[in-house]
Amino acid sequence: MKDLQFDYTKAVRAEQMTAIRPAVEKAMSTLTTGSGAGNDFIGWLSLPKDIEEQIADIEATAKLLREENEMIVCIGIGGSYLGAKAVNEALLSSFSQLEGNKPQVIYAGQNIGEDYLYELQTLLRNRKFGIISISKSGTTTEPALAFRLLKTQLEQQQGKESAKKNIVCITDRKRGALRTLATQEGYKTYVIEDNIGGRFSVLSPVGLLPIACAGFDIRSLIEGAKRMMDICALPFDENPAMQYAAARNILYQQEGKKVELLANFHPKLHYVSEWWKQLYGESEGKDGKAIFPASVDFTTDLHSMGQYIQDGERHLMETVISVEKPNHEVIFPHDEQNLDGLNFLAGKRVDEVNKMAELGTMLAHVDGGVPNMKFTLPCLNEYYLGQMIYMFEFACGISGYMLEVNPFNQPGVEAYKKNMFALLDKPGYEEESKAIRARL
Ligand code: PA5
Repeated sequence: MKDLQFDYTKAVRAEQMTAIRPAVEKAMSTLTTGSGAGNDFIGWLSLPKDIEEQIADIEATAKLLREENEMIVCIGIGGSYLGAKAVNEALLSSFSQLEGNKPQVIYAGQNIGEDYLYELQTLLRNRKFGIISISKSGTTTEPALAFRLLKTQLEQQQGKESAKKNIVCITDRKRGALRTLATQEGYKTYVIEDNIGGRFSVLSPVGLLPIACAGFDIRSLIEGAKRMMDICALPFDENPAMQYAAARNILYQQEGKKVELLANFHPKLHYVSEWWKQLYGESEGKDGKAIFPASVDFTTDLHSMGQYIQDGERHLMETVISVEKPNHEVIFPHDEQNLDGLNFLAGKRVDEVNKMAELGTMLAHVDGGVPNMKFTLPCLNEYYLGQMIYMFEFACGISGYMLEVNPFNQPGVEAYKKNMFALLDKPGYEEESKAIRARL
């Protein structure tokens, strides 16, 4: 069976990779021996094996929620929803919302937009829906607010006892308001272990339950991740995670490439990029350092961002996620009149056009001074998404240690929360409230 492949040859030279190899090996050893900063948050390293005993239970819960409901609302923000959304969007039909398949997994608690929440409440009115409420800390404002709104609506629509059967909480074992609430109300719960941070939690119940609720094979996802665990233990020359960490750090530290664009040629991968941006942005962006993770969906964005990428400031590197074999086949038809001049494509698969666009873009960007790295997934399914998730997580841990930051904390996220609470006059924030108002 094939595995995910990585190609760095259009980005860095072989001698640069040889020279950086000892630093990568040192960072990997720091990660795997648990001797680096944030070493109390590396439980995700063995998660694909540790989670196996919970899979049957997660599948059973998903089955109940699927049987009972037309819609399942997954409440969470950041690492508490992006992984599940990335996998679900990558595997669902692009038009699943319009095809009317039931149940649908939809998302809340990832913003505080009043219109979003109003429209969600309207959509759920008089429908059977379930809730998966996910928050490791159990105190994050956005999901807590959405949970209170939707729990109230569910209880009003179904009665408290029936609502209880359709609510599942995923949170800390003991701490936090969500744990207190779940215990008091008697909700079904799953635990996010202390040693697993939000953005590294997609292979825990945080990701697995919403993915199973969307009807996907979480066993295969975990099998893929387990296979990648083995690959990540291989030496540098056979280890895509080490090579990726090496190449992007060469480009950042030696070539002045400050921005990494994750590019795809399949719009279904849009949320994979969103998940990846959080993983790398929150893990590495600290102490005044790090590559800025950005993303583009091609060929769409070649008609909006293409000019800048080709010709703007030369601070970009690009990493493409390529899918070798699409899941469906569309053959381009012959047309007698050929008014659009496209008969030269007749009989070809649309993917052949897409692949030539991919190759042409890569060569153009390399010529324009944008080094290009490429991951190839043999196809888009649970198994290869599992491989990709674990590989990106493992590479992120190595890359963070190469940058000499703690990849597993996120102190910067607190700044906006403190100001927001002060401005909202949250009890306990009186001093901050006075200080911030004096600035307005
Ligand atoms: O990676 C992280 O730790 C964060 O992105 C969290 O997932 C996010 O802030 C949500 O936190 P919580 O799950 O505690 O509500």
